[in-house]
Amino acid sequence: MRKMILILVVISSLATGGILAIMAADLGRYRPPTPAWFTGTTEDKVQKLGLIQPSYADLMLWNGIRLNELFAAGISGKTEYAKLQAKKIEETLEKAALVDPTRRGGIEGLLSANYPGLIQAIDSKRSDEFQAAFGKLYASCVTCHVNHGVPFYPLIPTTSISPITSGSLELWQEIQKHLRQEQEKKIQQEREKK
Ligand code: HEC
Repeated sequence: MRKMILILVVISSLATGGILAIMAADLGRYRPPTPAWFTGTTEDKVQKLGLIQPSYADLMLWNGIRLNELFAAGISGKTEYAKLQAKKIEETLEKAALVDPTRRGGIEGLLSANYPGLIQAIDSKRSDEFQAAFGKLYASCVTCHVNHGVPFYPLIPTTSISPITSGSLELWQEIQKHLRQEQEKKIQQEREKK
């Protein structure tokens, strides 16, 4: 009996080893190329890495896109997606504060004035509450822009770039229908062959 158990343990560990080896080989198939800047000392590399990180303006560009998506999602009742956008705006602003600590004050002001109220308004699933919270956030963005000599007013978005808020559910259902029909046709053909 003991021998049997020992043999079973050996066989199963061999099998596990085999599977792990296959997985490792799979992972080893793709290696991203080493970027050209990845040379020199660690200090050199960190410095170059710093230079190619998103700039303050790059991060702000994301905030603009996310503000757009937040609005589109909020007014169409896509609660989870709206909440994701609100949280990403918070994260992106915190990154901007790291990139330029001299402008941290405006970001902290915006975050404390709008969070967690904005998240609560989205969760309430009430259009009037969402719109009021969105309006307040929008005003905070613009106030900081005015204070920092970039007095541009992002316009209230009218179209979304995300398939989650602007995509067609009907088109998706149509594709699903075609796929189902194809599947059924195949099954029918198999049956006729027999
Ligand atoms: C700390 C103040 C501050 C806050 C808060 C702030 N911004 Fe900005 N924003 C700036 C500054 C400064 C610039 C210009 C950056 C540059 O050109 O280097 C900018 C630029 C932008 C740009 C233009 C980026 C480009 O290069 O095209 C957009 C879009 C933008 N912000 C959106 C937003 C949105 C949306 C919010 C609110 C969720 C927001 N910002 C909050 C300071 C702020």
